[in-house]
Amino acid sequence: MEQNQAIPMPRIGDKAPEFKAVTTQGDINFPADYKGSWVILFSHPADFTPVCTSEFMTFATLEDKFAKANCKLVGLSVDGLYSHIAWLRTIKEKIEYKGMKDVEVRFPLIEDITMEVAKKYGMIQPGESSTKAVRAVFFIDPKGIIRAIIYYPLSLGRNFDELYRALIAMQTADNFSIATPADWQPGDDVIVPTAGSCGVAKDRMEGKEKMKCYDWFFCTKELDKESVIKAVTKK
Ligand code: BEZ
Repeated sequence: MEQNQAIPMPRIGDKAPEFKAVTTQGDINFPADYKGSWVILFSHPADFTPVCTSEFMTFATLEDKFAKANCKLVGLSVDGLYSHIAWLRTIKEKIEYKGMKDVEVRFPLIEDITMEVAKKYGMIQPGESSTKAVRAVFFIDPKGIIRAIIYYPLSLGRNFDELYRALIAMQTADNFSIATPADWQPGDDVIVPTAGSCGVAKDRMEGKEKMKCYDWFFCTKELDKESVIKAVTKK
């Protein structure tokens, strides 16, 4: 392939591109090693940088919360393994930030000096930087399918509550065959599939089904928080 030839970017619904990599937790074979779990594969621009440090501390602190929802974390930057190790040691030994200290990053951080993985996943976006990965987030489901992709520029630290919300919302959509409205949080009403026949549309508008309809195509129902959390945390 020519050096500057555009590489197709993975899209929602695609199989996660495969790769083998060296990480701070040993070698990985992706996504095969993660079959049966959700995984968030995320990139960051560089080790020993402030926004990335704040992100890693936050994600490491939330790792158990994501694990309870059957989701593993895998980080990547185009730095080398020894830089990664030194940076993670510095985070644990020296950095105290927003009440977080002594933070151990236990999830794997991929070394990608050749940018092979970053390019496969469209994490190098030359308009932003041709030498650093942007802040990409890939949500990959237990079957190895990409379910959501979020990209942020170098200067913008991610909102990890939103990443968790997105994960739980996708799992809830799968578990209960519903969709989630704007700003949905567990415990909020969820959207039922749109009526597929005139009869169902009529029944719903006449209040014959246990749901709230704003119009025939827009109906919601209650789904309690306990059921949502129970479903995402079941083994
Ligand atoms: C940071 O993580 O602080 C950062 C990294 C690359 C460019 C700008 C900021």
